[in-house]
Amino acid sequence: MKEPILSWLLNALKSSVGKKFVMGGTGLFLCFFLVVHLGGNLLLYVSADAYNHYAHALHANVAFLILAEVLLYLAFAGHLLLAYATVTENLAARPIAYGHPRKSKVPGRVANFAGLTPDSTMAITGAIVLFFIIVHVADFKFEIGWSEIEKAEPFTKAKVILGSMSRKVIYLIGSLVLGVHVSHGLASAFQSLGFNHPKYTPIIKKTAMVFSLVVAVGFGSFAAWGGRTFAAGAASADSAATAPESGDHTHEHPHPPEPAKTP
Ligand code: HEM
Repeated sequence: MKEPILSWLLNALKSSVGKKFVMGGTGLFLCFFLVVHLGGNLLLYVSADAYNHYAHALHANVAFLILAEVLLYLAFAGHLLLAYATVTENLAARPIAYGHPRKSKVPGRVANFAGLTPDSTMAITGAIVLFFIIVHVADFKFEIGWSEIEKAEPFTKAKVILGSMSRKVIYLIGSLVLGVHVSHGLASAFQSLGFNHPKYTPIIKKTAMVFSLVVAVGFGSFAAWGGRTFAAGAASADSAATAPESGDHTHEHPHPPEPAKTP
């Protein structure tokens, strides 16, 4: 019984409709992850405590973390493999002569920069985003090259990593390119999943534009962030986060909050 399902799945993946379906589905899932991830990261602007609590709570729930990571990496792997297959297939078939722009499957006007449109540059923007994610996961998850913050609290880690000039450049460019990739990708995902409606497709396109702006500006803003937080009374916890070398605080509330200062 298992074999027909497996061969059906493999055949479906070989068809271009099947490939697009998986690319669209995994793309939508990755966009959902971006929303959750951006929401969590915005806590950096609230206070060191808020961000540390969030990061610790996430890591404490091991079963949830493993499930989320497996789903995330499966989605990444599926998206990448099918993107590679689609690009190599398109190159081999080459139905359109060099120099002739391909017509987007998402109807309507598209942003155009020197003849380059988001949909004609999906492979290159995708490759740049991949590079950005590899650097990012090496930084934050595996802390490669960041031995000085090995035992630091999550807020301190973010502050130190995002304070480095090379990372500011990589994270800013990465976030902007991610925005361009998603601006076409999100609208295209709905088309690939078979959702095409004269009334709703323009709305989906506009929503995708707003979404991609939020992603680019939201993630890009962390590259410009200097470690400031905005919650009243968060100053003392944040000042601990600026000095990892002075022995980082591993307990939940390092200091009682200071009363709000009046100018
Ligand atoms: C620029 C602001 C960002 C900050 C401050 C940030 C922060 C973090 C942190 C703290 C982690 C957790 C590491 C751990 O498990 O200990 C993480 C993981 C991750 N981030 Fe980000 N992130 C940012 C942007 C992004 C963007 C734009 C993407 C996607 C394009 C992304 C994709 C990921 C992925 C795939 C993981 C690994 C998840 C896992 O394996 O648990 N991040 N990030």
